[in-house]
Order: sequence, then structure tokens, then C-alpha cells
Amino acid sequence: MTTDISALLTRLADPATRPDPYDTLRVLRERSPVLDPVSGLVVVARRADCEAVLRSPGVSSDRRGAGITVVPQQPNLINLDAPDHTRLRRLAGRAFKPRVIERWRPRVEAIARELLTGIAEGGGTADIASRFAYPMPVRVICEMLGVPRRDHPVFERWAHAIAYTVDPRLVPGRLDAETIADVEEAREGFAGYFSELIDARAKDPREDILSELIAAGEDEDRLTRTELVIMCILLLVAGHETTANLILNGVLALLRHPDQLGLLRDDPALAGAAVEEVLRYDAPAQMVTRIAGGPLTVGGMEIAAGSPILLLLAAANRDPDVHEAPDVFDITRGDGGHLGFAAGAHFCLGSVLARLEATIALSAFATAFADPVLVRESLRYRPHIAVRGPDRLQVSFSGIS
Ligand code: HEM
Repeated sequence: MTTDISALLTRLADPATRPDPYDTLRVLRERSPVLDPVSGLVVVARRADCEAVLRSPGVSSDRRGAGITVVPQQPNLINLDAPDHTRLRRLAGRAFKPRVIERWRPRVEAIARELLTGIAEGGGTADIASRFAYPMPVRVICEMLGVPRRDHPVFERWAHAIAYTVDPRLVPGRLDAETIADVEEAREGFAGYFSELIDARAKDPREDILSELIAAGEDEDRLTRTELVIMCILLLVAGHETTANLILNGVLALLRHPDQLGLLRDDPALAGAAVEEVLRYDAPAQMVTRIAGGPLTVGGMEIAAGSPILLLLAAANRDPDVHEAPDVFDITRGDGGHLGFAAGAHFCLGSVLARLEATIALSAFATAFADPVLVRESLRYRPHIAVRGPDRLQVSFSGIS
């Protein structure tokens, strides 16, 4: 395989690489940290280097105007630095505390059960992506935000379109005007929708996250209307494709490793550990970007102020310096953790919810069907790079267990 950085990034951006980017990621990790002269990105892919950048106070998350994302960015949590970030994170954090999320467990279990029962009744074969992994997190986050059921399908479409906003520009000019127009349409659609919903909840608060966000903070420091709308869009987008892909990457890894599926089926209490291993072995969030706030030294490399940095989390998660036999899927490994939710100030706000949903989904999947087998030719990946996973994954089974 080539070791030319631009060629490797071009390969990573190529949809043909989506099913298995790990060889390309390995070579990038071995060469990192390194500057790609074509995109101008500094590629960081070793675990220790990624962690150092994520935790460095001299590194900015404000990519707006930096030209490193394929779609223009909004001033949301993900794109802001302290002190704006600290304030928003504190206000939003209230709605994502473990004890608030834990209240949703029975509802999440019921949604998983309902979806799997629907599949089992259909018999024979089913697409786990469209019937389970995608609808589940949309339903959960829509219910949490208080979006009525009849509006869930349009939310799924908008969320799909808007998911391109987190893709970094690995290769110049990769997205066409039509995709950008779809993103804009989705943003406008969400903004109009949430504005009305915010009015309704402000008058008549309920037990949902939106009411919690409206009420968050002291009187003089509430989220403004615009901040609320942008936050709702972010929560929907950040919590939808990522969680669907975590479930799908998990189902796929389990089907490809029947011994591991057997372990989980025999002991569903292993589901939490299985979720951690999927976050490491086949991370839904493959990469994030940063900007060097000032001059920076990473892994012995001097990075100039203002340089865009590409952090390949999925490569760091398989760093042999941290994980023994890193390319092996082993739900009992329990070693050095992972960067699946990033680290530092921007560590995933929804990690508790994502873990809850995926744990319930994987244990329910492992115990729902008799003899589940992957229909190999059905497997198809979404074109997105940063949040990566299948959008079609058929399973055949001999019955329900
Ligand atoms: C941030 C991954 C689910 C909300 C992040 C980041 C990662 C990530 C890697 C850091 C981005 C960066 O540093 O640039 C994931 C994965 C998920 C998941 C893999 C599921 C498997 C969720 C859910 C929600 C959520 C369910 C909420 C409903 C957020 C928010 C941020 C974030 C709001 C921004 C936090 C900040 O910038 O302070 N997520 N996420 N995520 N995530 Fe998640």
C-alpha cells in the first residue's frame, strides 16, 4: 500500500473504502503525526497523540470559517471554545445527567422490544438498519425532545441530510451543491419546527429534554431562542446517526464473530462490555477535527498556529501501543478504553444515553433470534466519512428465540 499521505486520505474519502478503512488507517497511524501538503491537514492518529490534542487547552474546536468541513458550520457546542462552550455545556449538561437519562430506560427497552417484535413477526430475513438500528435512536431522541410521533419520519430524513455537517474535507471539492442545499433545507426545516415546539413547551412544560433546556440556568443566563434551536438540531443529529451506527457496527461484528455473539447470548450482562468493544474496534465516530490555537508540539512534530488537525480516532482505537491484538474483536478484553466518544472538554455529551441505547439494543438483538446470519451481499455503507456505518444490513434467521 502507498504511504503517500494525500493518496491515503483520498483513499479514506473514497466510498469504496467505507466497508473496511482499517488498513488505510493503520498506515496513516504509522506515518503520523504528519502534514498532508494537499489538504493542509495535520494527521494525528496515535492514541497518545490524539489524547494529548483533545485535552490540550491550546487547541480550538472552532472550525467555522476554517474550510476544513464540507458544509458550513453553526455556532453549536461542538464548534465553540471556552467560555461560550463552558456555558452551553453547563446548561445542556443538566438534561444529560446519568440519573435523568436512567429514567428513560424502560421506554428505551420498550422501543427496542417493539421494533424487534415487528421484525420477528415478519419472519425469515430483515434489514436491521431500516427496521431497528435507525428507527430506535430517532424514536428515543424525538420522544426525549418531545417531538410527536407523526413527525418522526421527516426528522429522520432531515437528520440524514444534515449528517454531512461533521464530515471533514479530506479531499477538496468532494460534496456537490445539491448535498449542501439538502443540508440547508434540513436546517431551515428543523429551525422552523423547533421554534414552534419551543413556544409550545415554554407555555406548557412537560417531562422532556426540551422543557428541561428551556428551564435550564438562572434567569439571567438562559439559553436564547437561537441557542435552543441550534442545540435541538445538534442533539438530534449527534444522537441519531452515531447511535444507529454503534448498534449496526455492533450487530455486524457480532454476526461476523459467532463466538462473541454466543458469549453475549449466554450472558446478556456482557452487553455493556460489548458496546465498549464496538466503540473501540469499529468506532461510529471515526474522526474529529481541531485547529491549533497557537504553536503546538505533538508526537515530536511542531504544528504551526492556525493549522487544521485531523484526529483519526478509529486509528487511535487500534493502536498496538495501547491494545494487545488491536484488530481482534473481543468483548471480554476490558483494556485501556477507547476514544469513541473523544476526550477532554468536548467529550460526548450524550455518552450515557448512547451507552444505554446500545446496551439495550445489542442484548435484545443477541437474544431475539434463533441462528441469525448476515446476508453478505446485502451489506451497504453510507457515504459519510466521519460518522461511519452501514445503511443496509440484512439478517436471516430460523425463528425467534
Ligand atoms: C460530541 C461521539 C451519541 C450528543 C461527541 C464527540 C464524539 C461523539 C466523538 C466529540 C466531537 C468533537 O470532539 O469534536 C458519539 C458517538 C455516539 C454519540 C459515537 C453514539 C454512539 C450521542 C448522543 C447525543 C450526543 C446520543 C445526544 C443526544 C453530543 C453532543 C456533543 C457530542 C451535544 C458535543 C459536545 C461538546 O462539544 O461539548 N459525540 N456521540 N452524542 N455528542 Fe456524541
